Amino acid sequence: MKKIDTRNQLPYVWIAAGILLTLLLVMYLYVKKTSPVQSDYQTIFPIATHSNGDNYVGSEACRACHADIYKTHLETAHYHSSSLADSGSVKGSFKKDKNLYQLNDSIRFKMLLEDSEMYQQAWNIISGEKISKSKIDVVIGSGTKGQSYLSWENDKLYQLQVSYFTPTDSWTNSPGIPMQLMEQRRPANAKCLECHTTFAKNTALYGMGNSYDKSQIMYGIDCERCHGPLQKHVTFHKNNPELSEARYVINHDTLSRQQRLDACALCHSGVRMDIQPAFLFLTGDKLTEYSLPDSNAKDLEGIDVHGNQYDLLRASTCFKQTESMDCTSCHNPHKNERGDSASFNTKCMKCHSKNSILCKVDPLLSNQKNTNCVACHMPLIPSKSMFVQIGRDSLKVPVMVRTHLIDIYAQSETEKGDAKM
Ligand code: HEC
Ligand code: HEC
Ligand code: HEC
Ligand code: HEC
Ligand code: HEC
Ligand code: HEC
Ligand code: HEC
Repeated sequence: MKKIDTRNQLPYVWIAAGILLTLLLVMYLYVKKTSPVQSDYQTIFPIATHSNGDNYVGSEACRACHADIYKTHLETAHYHSSSLADSGSVKGSFKKDKNLYQLNDSIRFKMLLEDSEMYQQAWNIISGEKISKSKIDVVIGSGTKGQSYLSWENDKLYQLQVSYFTPTDSWTNSPGIPMQLMEQRRPANAKCLECHTTFAKNTALYGMGNSYDKSQIMYGIDCERCHGPLQKHVTFHKNNPELSEARYVINHDTLSRQQRLDACALCHSGVRMDIQPAFLFLTGDKLTEYSLPDSNAKDLEGIDVHGNQYDLLRASTCFKQTESMDCTSCHNPHKNERGDSASFNTKCMKCHSKNSILCKVDPLLSNQKNTNCVACHMPLIPSKSMFVQIGRDSLKVPVMVRTHLIDIYAQSETEKGDAKM
């Protein structure tokens, strides 16, 4: 066999390697210059992943470009509708004498604060035996009207028996937990989280149980609950700051009235029957493909003021006689407008002034900014389904909710001496 003398070829190998390295360096510099800066990607961590593969990034990621909306949104009930439990988020008191709750002769609850962790302890009054001690892990409800609490047991979530009621600043029973079952906390099925969080990954079979992936729960109703998972939108605009036209996000103006209503009806149309897990629904989708309407909403009498603004509004003459009215005709979803009656009345007067239908009581009303149309035509009405009982001897108190059936009512709130908004 002929031997190859490699000694003479060595310089060529070095030259070739040198050329290759230079080429690679040039290519690397070129790619680095034209492609987005790596650090931009790194600042946008996905928090959770929707089943369609798109990633959620959280509202902190919107702040840089939508500063005003980001800021006002932090004050909304939506943003505070769920959170991790801590001394700031739990509104109930743990102070001596204020931390007890007793509903019947057999069971009593004490709220305990131990090393900044919070617990609900239940014991049997007759035997003196402790029944249970559950940690308060998750808060459901902004506390505008009240709060309920959830507790983890491994990866399963349970709703605790004692809630907090804001109007009386006291502990109360959790609405919906039957009195005779106060001894047990109840499994928090997907339902609480579907309406009170941005996203939660249910790990139960068919999403029917109460087990969750703790690392994939986004507390509060944040931007991406209404606008969908937006990692692509954020990444695109970070890397193309010169473009002012929105990409990879739905423009609400392009949606039909029903699509716009569905985006709110997802959580504001009572207790719906799921066909698919509720977190699959994204703004723009048709809600009836995901869940069936509340069976109580077949007739007007059955619709509760709590939780079902959608069906009540749809039954109103204002809604039926216009093509465009939806929730955003009166609500700015990015602002806390509770109590701002002047702003709401202005919304009524967009359609009810000068050349249109005026109030019969006093047409002049329609031209006065300080008139409270809402107090007479959308009064607070007691809920049929949400009751609390503050203590053993007290009556059941219904939670008062503003009706969305805009109508003529016999009495206004002001007449009843209750003009609170
Ligand atoms: C790097 C900048 C940037 C970031 C970060 C960003 N956006 Fe945007 N967004 C834009 C631009 C630019 C537009 C188009 C102009 C406008 O409407 O303000 C836009 C428009 C929108 C629109 C309106 C779409 C339309 O067509 O009307 C929505 C909704 C939106 N963004 C939501 C979000 C949310 C939610 C986040 C956070 C998850 C976010 N954006 C983060 C730049 C950004
Ligand atoms: C993911 C479910 C969900 C969606 C979607 C949703 N909401 Fe809500 N909304 C809630 C919950 C839960 C509350 C109660 C929050 C609390 O006080 O804890 C609430 C509260 C409200 C309130 C009362 C605010 C206050 O100050 O107490 C208004 C008004 C409202 N929603 C309007 C809307 C509108 C308009 C839309 C559609 C653009 C919408 N919501 C979409 C779940 C939702
Ligand atoms: C409860 C649902 C909801 C939440 C939560 C929400 N939005 Fe919106 N957003 C809407 C709706 C509905 C519209 C369309 C408003 C309209 O047509 O009047 C909108 C419009 C927008 C627009 C375009 C129009 C405008 O007002 O500039 C931007 C940008 C936007 N949202 C960003 C955000 C950001 C950022 C957050 C979180 C900080 C957020 N949204 C939270 C429902 C929501
Ligand atoms: C179908 C959607 C939906 C489901 C499911 C749901 N909620 Fe709500 N919840 C709402 C809406 C909407 C409001 C506020 C407006 C109203 O009363 O109509 C609300 C209000 C509340 C409030 C009062 C918040 C405040 O301060 O005003 C508490 C507490 C609460 N819910 C707890 C729960 C718990 C606990 C569960 C699970 C057992 C649950 N909710 C399931 C939609 C829902
Ligand atoms: C988008 C336009 C629009 C808005 C906004 C609006 N309405 Fe109306 N409203 C109408 C129309 C149209 C009618 C039907 C008039 C008729 O009977 O011809 C109506 C009817 C009514 C009626 C008579 C109801 C009945 O059954 O006889 C009352 C009361 C009323 N509106 C009050 C209000 C109040 C209060 C607000 C604000 C909270 C409001 N409206 C906001 C368009 C609107
Ligand atoms: C005609 C005007 C109007 C329309 C349309 C409207 N709302 Fe309201 N909504 C109000 C007023 C006024 C209040 C009382 C606000 C306050 O308490 O300061 C209110 C309050 C609420 C509350 C809190 C109720 C309570 O007592 O805690 C919720 C939740 C709500 N609206 C959801 C919706 C949803 C969802 C839609 C669409 C299906 C909608 N609203 C459409 C005027 C309207
Ligand atoms: C003090 C309570 C009160 C206030 C405030 C009030 N209304 Fe009325 N409104 C009534 C009553 C009662 C009727 C029914 C009168 C009748 O049928 O004789 C009525 C009737 C109406 C009608 C039906 C008129 C028709 O032709 O059928 C409209 C529309 C209306 N109001 C709109 C408004 C608007 C908009 C405001 C705020 C600018 C307002 N109302 C403020 C009590 C009130």
